[in-house]
Amino acid sequence: MQHVHRARVFLSAALMLCAAAGSASAAESTPRAVSPIFGVSIPEGYRSWQLIAPAEEAAPLDELRVVLGNPAAVKAIQDLKGPFPDGAILVKLAYKRKQSPEFSSATVPGQATTVQVMVKDSKRYASTGGWGFGRFIGGVPTDAAQHQTCFACHEARAAKDRDYVFTRFAP
Ligand code: HEC
Repeated sequence: MQHVHRARVFLSAALMLCAAAGSASAAESTPRAVSPIFGVSIPEGYRSWQLIAPAEEAAPLDELRVVLGNPAAVKAIQDLKGPFPDGAILVKLAYKRKQSPEFSSATVPGQATTVQVMVKDSKRYASTGGWGFGRFIGGVPTDAAQHQTCFACHEARAAKDRDYVFTRFAP
């Protein structure tokens, strides 16, 4: 019992030291950055999630995009009936369009621009269709003004019977 207690004291002291080491140098031990308004972070492990569909955005943004989903989102979107279940997460990765240096008619991803996230939690985000939003540039959340536009556009332009999600599953 005694040594368990001592181990705990040691652990909390170590954690305090980490915290004191400063936020810049202790990136691993600090909480993940969250978006204003919604408190959404870039989900862990998202890069190995399944592809839902690619997309392309014309000038002036000139971007290639891919939308990925966690297992709950992918399962729901393939045969969407009603809203996505709580816990579904969609991530959209965007890159500048770039001409392939090897093959001139091919377009490949250039510099990464934004990572955007939609998290379904029907209670927490009841006033925005059950979706929490996050837009990140280089891992840093963008400002509140940008986050005020998310649901407005998704609500106005994406079909309500698709739960305000534009992307459809590409077979
Ligand atoms: C002016 C309209 C508009 C605004 C504002 C907007 N989006 Fe979207 N969003 C789209 C469109 C259109 C798509 C479909 C994919 C594409 O074309 O890139 C999309 C797709 C997405 C997706 C993939 C799921 C889906 O609905 O297809 C996510 C995640 C996303 N947006 C997050 C955000 C976040 C976060 C914000 C706010 C910071 C935001 N969006 C603001 C138009 C908008």
